[in-house]
Amino acid sequence: MADPLLIIEDDTLFGRELARHFKGRGWDADLAASLKRAKQVLLEEHAEPLVIIADMSLPDGNALDLLEQARAQNIPGEWILLTGCGSVPDSVRALRLGAYDFLEKPCPLARLEIVVAGARRSAQAQKRLRSQATDEQRRYTPDSLIGCSEIMAQTRRMIARLAEVPFSALIIGGETGTGKGLVARILHHSGPRADGPMIEVNCAALPRDLLESELFGHEAGAFTGAKGRHRGYLEQANEGTLFLDEIAEMDLDLQTKLLTVLEDRSLRRLGSEKMVDVDVQIIAASNRNLEERVRDGSFRSDLFHRLSVFRLDLPPLRARLDDLRDLVPALIEEYNARSGRSVRRVPEDVYALMRDYDWPGNVRELRNVIERAVLLADSETFPAEWMQLGRGLGRTAGSNRSEPHLDGDRLVIPLDGSMALDQMDSYIIRTALERSHWNVTAAARALGTTRETLRYRVQKYGLMEHGEPADEESR
Ligand SMILES: Nc1ncnc2c1ncn2[C@@H]1O[C@H](COP(=O)(O)OP(=O)(O)OP(=O)(O)O)[C@@H](O)[C@H]1O
Ligand SMILES: [Mg+2]
Repeated sequence: MADPLLIIEDDTLFGRELARHFKGRGWDADLAASLKRAKQVLLEEHAEPLVIIADMSLPDGNALDLLEQARAQNIPGEWILLTGCGSVPDSVRALRLGAYDFLEKPCPLARLEIVVAGARRSAQAQKRLRSQATDEQRRYTPDSLIGCSEIMAQTRRMIARLAEVPFSALIIGGETGTGKGLVARILHHSGPRADGPMIEVNCAALPRDLLESELFGHEAGAFTGAKGRHRGYLEQANEGTLFLDEIAEMDLDLQTKLLTVLEDRSLRRLGSEKMVDVDVQIIAASNRNLEERVRDGSFRSDLFHRLSVFRLDLPPLRARLDDLRDLVPALIEEYNARSGRSVRRVPEDVYALMRDYDWPGNVRELRNVIERAVLLADSETFPAEWMQLGRGLGRTAGSNRSEPHLDGDRLVIPLDGSMALDQMDSYIIRTALERSHWNVTAAARALGTTRETLRYRVQKYGLMEHGEPADEESR
């Protein structure tokens, strides 16, 4: 289908010439000879032209007023303005309103064509971004949080209510894999900031200095290696949401800086004198008990109170086993679609086994179990023999498939679908830790990663509790 182009031009001869020219180049060109007609096309008929070429001064008004109105109503399309005698204040206003370009008349068609081609590319890119945002808004609604238990129904109601109010901060608590990340996305994409950006940052995954420059941004030369200017996550999330995952892992001095930004609604990039205004909604998540961290002094109480305007605590899966009745079919359907399998039947003894298990990795672990079983199913029935609950590390003595093992200095990991990626990750980390006698720094070095990242994953996979190796074997 030809892309729609709107030409707003009162000089009919020139207008017709433009329309003919662009029709010849594959556009669906429409000509409006007055501001009134153009207004009808844009605001009433919702023609949504990709590009608008407008003569700035028309007999019934200034095209910039229409551009301003279109912008206020979020009507997409790139505007190219044609001016008779280039008046500077108007061109400044045109740029401020986000016009793509403005050209002085008479302007050679070849030149206009190049500008129109650029405007088309830009408008198409924006259209893609918008439809992506719409997809996410459709994908992340309160109903994407699956589970028929009363506690989940209540959580959905709270999320739906929260999505209606412009809250400034919220904390989501809950064990690993309970859906904190999912809830954060739902809150953003179904809330009033859905058209703004959502930036996610895992505070445990970055070393302190890097986290600081990523959050607050920096100017060129602020520190060794700071080549150019960098807008930090807080600035990037302007008018949207910043999701701070694993907030308990943030250093105390960064917590202080973050609190200042939240109170002042402005920040200073590293190495800069200038303050920049930021308008962000913060969603913070933690699988640690933050109150306890406040009590033992490793989390600032003032930041805690600033963030916990609202709180949502997601219960572990073992406390809402009824949800399995919804989660299992939904996840099977998802992996059927991904892998072209058609598992339809889940025997009651599968549910019984699942109800007996304590799900330390919660929904994420359930997801892995189902992914593995669906991939290995050879009929329409969910294969109970592939569930291997609690044997996340692939230790299935007696089965005839290959198992991960150490071969001298090498690790051998089976690629036959018997291990999910997370399980491989967990196995690699555990082996490295065992070889370094649970010295995290040495293990991090062996894996070419940071201590922070390793510490985060050790926690995520439950490999060590309170500094001691977890009793993984007994599961
Ligand atoms: N109630 C639910 N309905 C549907 N999917 C869910 C639900 N809860 C969790 N999931 C899915 O389980 C996986 C793990 O959830 P998520 O990443 O949100 O957990 P988390 O609490 O952020 O874990 P972590 O603390 O390890 O970051 C995701 O794929 C998520 O979409
Ligand atoms: Mg998460």
